[in-house]
Amino acid sequence: MTVEIKIFETAGKLAETVAERWREGALRASRTGHFFNIVLVGGGTPREVYRYLARSGDRQSIPWDAVHLFWGDERCVPPDHEESNYRMVREALIDPLSLPPENIHPFHGEDDPGTEAIRYSREIRDHLGLSAREIPRFDWILLGLGQDGHTASLFPGKEIPWSDSGICAVTTHPGSGLKRLTLTPAVLNHASRVTFIVTGSGKAQIVSEILNGQNPNQHYPAARVKPETGVLEWFLDREAAALLKQ
Ligand code: 6PG
Repeated sequence: MTVEIKIFETAGKLAETVAERWREGALRASRTGHFFNIVLVGGGTPREVYRYLARSGDRQSIPWDAVHLFWGDERCVPPDHEESNYRMVREALIDPLSLPPENIHPFHGEDDPGTEAIRYSREIRDHLGLSAREIPRFDWILLGLGQDGHTASLFPGKEIPWSDSGICAVTTHPGSGLKRLTLTPAVLNHASRVTFIVTGSGKAQIVSEILNGQNPNQHYPAARVKPETGVLEWFLDREAAALLKQ
């Protein structure tokens, strides 16, 4: 595993780099007759990234037919709910670019969580042509970081077994008690590339606790994301990186 930390002057500059990486990955996949399978991150931070991509990644510059979108986690709410990660991406990226519906693979947040975890696992395995025991290897997984060190919907103290051989799990948000669906750590750590997108001064403390320490607190799920044979990247703006040792 290689770890790279990139610090950007602004969140806008960070978004530009994500869009460029997205374009490169999609073109590389398209030229070799493959799909570019991306796992999207929810929450507030990435919304501007997706909006920038919608503005800049028009149907001419990115071969969207080669891009398949999955979600790293979802709140157990209907797809039109204000908390829905799918709705956020639909409004910021999918609708503005009229992306092909067959390339969009959201969780069904409105369904029974346990049933949906099994269904979504099957949808992923079918798309990637995997057997029932194989762990999927996504080309690119985007992740966020909570101030408590959570990522996707893997929360401190409520972690599922990191050796879980499943693909999806049901968790509970510690604050709201809302059920969540999430990819398991096994999937996160099997990706070719994992990129944390973290901006704002509110994340500076948790970023420093995870990235400054030689042996970061393993209590934090985000600190345990280590793609065994992939690249781990931290894309930070100056505010989120403010407490990092230079
Ligand atoms: C979610 C995300 C979650 C998010 C962090 C940071 O569904 O909310 O998967 O892990 O990335 O909570 O959220 P913000 O970007 O809103 O700070």
